[in-house]
Amino acid sequence: MNPAIEVKNLGKTYGSVTAIDDLSLTINPGEIFGLLGPNGAGKSTTLRILITVLKPTSGTATVLGHDVVEEPDTVRSLIGYVPQERAIDRFLTGREHLQLLGDLYHLPKAQATQRIQELLKLVDLEEHADRTAKTYSGGMKRKLDIACGLLPNPKIVFLDEPTLGLDVHSRLRIWDHIRQLRKQGITIVMTTNYLEEADQLCDRLAIIDQGKIKVIGTPKELKAGLGGDSLSLTVKESQLDKLDRLSEGVKTLSFVRNIRTIDNGLDIRVESPEKSLPAVLEVANRIDCQVDGIEYHRPRLDDVFVSFTGHALKGEYPDPVEE
Ligand SMILES: Nc1ncnc2c1ncn2[C@@H]1O[C@H](COP(=O)(O)OP(=O)(O)OP(=O)(O)O)[C@@H](O)[C@H]1O
Ligand SMILES: [Mg+2]
Repeated sequence: MNPAIEVKNLGKTYGSVTAIDDLSLTINPGEIFGLLGPNGAGKSTTLRILITVLKPTSGTATVLGHDVVEEPDTVRSLIGYVPQERAIDRFLTGREHLQLLGDLYHLPKAQATQRIQELLKLVDLEEHADRTAKTYSGGMKRKLDIACGLLPNPKIVFLDEPTLGLDVHSRLRIWDHIRQLRKQGITIVMTTNYLEEADQLCDRLAIIDQGKIKVIGTPKELKAGLGGDSLSLTVKESQLDKLDRLSEGVKTLSFVRNIRTIDNGLDIRVESPEKSLPAVLEVANRIDCQVDGIEYHRPRLDDVFVSFTGHALKGEYPDPVEE
């Protein structure tokens, strides 16, 4: 199977700023591939190189076998793009936006009219198609953005932060639309700041931080790769001097796979929570260390993120922006 996208040792610098550094990845046809990372990680830069609006400083990238630098016109004819920054004109209706784009793409009138109707249906905007965009909610505008990206009937769609700032309902609707596209055989490349979005929506993802890819895999593989469930134990400030001894003691337990010191406690990877919980508490008792809190959970994508980047990704949905 030929890859949909092949990126090799891609780099981009802006003066002294390295936006992305030596990225390599392969995206398969028909998958939803996510770039997950914090602000400034290099997600949009990567996307913009792939859609041929930015030239890389080093390395190569191909889209359906076509080099993004050598054959930008061919690449552009195969893709759709939904930018992070909204490009909607407040005074046009949803339908007029799509018609205008249809003219830009030189679609024959009858074909454009039919395609626009299909797209309005796909993103649930049929009812609102003839209202001006200034009366749209944030979610409706994002759906219109997506319809615009799909108008040229692309084989690959690039979505930059498709649900940024949207409320729960709109976000779930957009996820549905994205899954719908995958059903039609379209390859989706998207960026996200949101752990939950990456976990629920993406077939595979790359964690990107400070311009570098830290790891690539399915959400399931990445979580399983952490090796075990997590037991987070915190102690009161007065007990912090006992943390090293606690860590030493816990390390000797046979079912402990890994142990890391966190702010005011320990993060312990364990094979079996049933055995580990009482045993860890017993070690604490033995050295007279008072435990303040203990939390057990299955591996989550935020654990994966911390494990590969050394820091947390807030990755929570902000309050939706009122518009
Ligand atoms: N035109 C530019 N000139 C200079 N620096 C830039 C430019 N565009 C991006 N950068 C820098 O490159 C880095 C990566 O930016 P990029 O927009 O790719 O990040 P991102 O992962 O998309 O972040 P966000 O989640 O905020 O959208 C940042 O340090 C940014 O400041
Ligand atoms: Mg961005």
